[in-house]
Amino acid sequence: MQRKILVTSALPYANGPIHIGHLVEYIQTDIWVRFQKLRGNKCLYLCADDTHGTAIMIRAKKEGRSEEDLIASMSESHQKDFAGFGIEFDHYGSTNSDENRKLCGQFWQSLRDADLITERSIEQLYDPEANTFLADRFVRGTCPKCGLLDQAGDNCNCGHTYSPTELIDPKSTLSGATPVLKNAKHLFVELEQLRGFLTQWVDSEDSLQTEVANYLKGHFLGDELRDWDVSRPSPYFGFEIPDAPGNYWYVWFDAPIGYIATTEQWCKANNQTLDDWWKNKDCEIHHFIGKDITYFHTLFWPGMLKTAGYSLPKKVHIHGFLTVNGEKMSKSKGTFIAAETYLNQTNPSYLRYFYASKLSQRVEDIDLGIEEFARKVNTDLVGKVVNLASRVGKFAKQTGLAEVYPDDGGLFENAVAAGDEIASAYETCDYARAIRRIMELADAANPFVEHAKPWEMKKDPDRQDELRDVCTVALNLFRQLTIYLSPVLPDLATQCSEWLDEPIKSWEQSRTPLLGTQVGAFRRMLDRVQIEDLEKMIEDSKAESDETTSDVAKQFQDSDQPLKDEPLADEIGIEDFAKVDLRVARVISAEHVPDANKLLKLELSLGGDETRQVFAGIKAAYEPEKLVGRLVVMVANLKPRKMRFGLSEGMVTAAGPGGEDVFILGIDEGAKPGQRVH
Ligand code: MSP
Ligand code: ZN
Repeated sequence: MQRKILVTSALPYANGPIHIGHLVEYIQTDIWVRFQKLRGNKCLYLCADDTHGTAIMIRAKKEGRSEEDLIASMSESHQKDFAGFGIEFDHYGSTNSDENRKLCGQFWQSLRDADLITERSIEQLYDPEANTFLADRFVRGTCPKCGLLDQAGDNCNCGHTYSPTELIDPKSTLSGATPVLKNAKHLFVELEQLRGFLTQWVDSEDSLQTEVANYLKGHFLGDELRDWDVSRPSPYFGFEIPDAPGNYWYVWFDAPIGYIATTEQWCKANNQTLDDWWKNKDCEIHHFIGKDITYFHTLFWPGMLKTAGYSLPKKVHIHGFLTVNGEKMSKSKGTFIAAETYLNQTNPSYLRYFYASKLSQRVEDIDLGIEEFARKVNTDLVGKVVNLASRVGKFAKQTGLAEVYPDDGGLFENAVAAGDEIASAYETCDYARAIRRIMELADAANPFVEHAKPWEMKKDPDRQDELRDVCTVALNLFRQLTIYLSPVLPDLATQCSEWLDEPIKSWEQSRTPLLGTQVGAFRRMLDRVQIEDLEKMIEDSKAESDETTSDVAKQFQDSDQPLKDEPLADEIGIEDFAKVDLRVARVISAEHVPDANKLLKLELSLGGDETRQVFAGIKAAYEPEKLVGRLVVMVANLKPRKMRFGLSEGMVTAAGPGGEDVFILGIDEGAKPGQRVH
């Protein structure tokens, strides 16, 4: 029976280009959709740009253009990148559409009617220069726990989490101004009221991967569900809430509704009704998302759908994050690779194949190792699959395909038998298993051609029938592999179709061989990946990241002191430096010294029982209680000095001219007191 399936990928933010991390998801989804279409199901693949929020507003302002102008050019560039990777949407929309505004109004009214909305005032940091409230990620400052400088608004590298109001010396990353606290009214959804429903949904069969369901039960449903803040006060780029003027729906409220709005646009263009897709129990809804946005899609979104009377997703498929060479993508290492940069250097099929070979049903991260990438593409894809075609390609044009399928020792039938297992692996998103199975078939097929030695047959006029039979077997095995791989490698499928003059449209074609037809001229289908191209791609990514040094960094550079204000000291050798014994130390107490107007008395721990007393001229810059607990770097072998107030047994390192402008050297958390600084 033909299934009716609506599929979405997460809507990418309109404030940046598509990169290879995003592509894990869009390639994963596109493969699934192509597979469903190949199986004869009615399947719709929809996506859109996620356009609202502070980031877009700020960026538009900085670039001196309207938000609409910015999101239009982003949408164009996103769609170009997706097309470049063969990702084929049935429709690509935008959350900034009339359809979406209207639907948001409907959802809102249902939430009001269900008495789920509550109002209260909250205190938030506000940037008085940029005139806007600041989301956590727009505030940076010193960690209140460990003293690490320039940390994010909600968490520090040391692992400590906090509210941005607890940061020491907070700065707005928008303007550099010191934020102030300001009250504003916010509207909340009382999610706790939906607990019964949500618990049941999370547990319902097959709607989530088991590990995700367990995570939700352990982390969120175990406690009272917090009210969800769904409004933002003006100024904000988004939709104004009709019954709360001056307030806007938070971007995460209108973004998922964008899935429905995009469907509506497609329906209008295709003469269909929305309810047939979103209020129809015979239509399956599948969302594909990354693990970072699990919460929104598995608690808020089902809650909203339920309240507004729309279908619930049949499944939310969640994938892990991409790492490159075992690490988070990094701009400075050139592994933060934009889709466009990739496309400029190498072939999109490689990445589709590689991701497919790595993706499973698990939420675990997947790693793109450059060597593994090259090996999989060259050894498996080109060496086993494409080679099968090239080995007989040049003979097949003359021989054509036999009328009757020759004896191949059971290879073709064996591959037919594997079809169901491969299909079920695709269906369950276990692409890695599908690819393994397909490669086993390719491993079995290649020796057939090697043993037959068609190039020898070619020279012997009496063996032309034999040659035709070998070509018939090899081409049919290749064609079968290509059908199985076609969700992953649509370009290869097109090339095969053109060559054999037979469009690949259905999975069923893999069950019967193609016989008695002519074959076109063979053209090379896919070359081996060149390591130099990959290296070039990484170099290009590094260069791009230099050009886009963050605005925060630029802002700091502008106020950086030029070196000439204090010329460098005479050159020294490493042995001179080694004479200075710098050690990590933890401040265990800090207090004012009576009668001393510049000094604080610090007690520093070098680990174990080793402590030192140090007087430091930092009184104007630091409050003693804020220093306690943090790590500093001290000169530990400085000759002790007797001062009026007591013995000073070393020196705390700091920069700055003095007075209020003194900055103690921090060190990343993880360093241990007593460790030497080299
Ligand atoms: N705009 C939201 C989604 C709204 S859906 C109603 C968003 N956008 S995003 O551009 O940040 O991410 C889009 C998708 O790409 C998300 O599912 C996200 O998990 C995924 N990925 C972004 N970076 C990724 C990696 N480095 N690795 C794998 N997937 C990644 O979130
Ligand atoms: Zn910290």
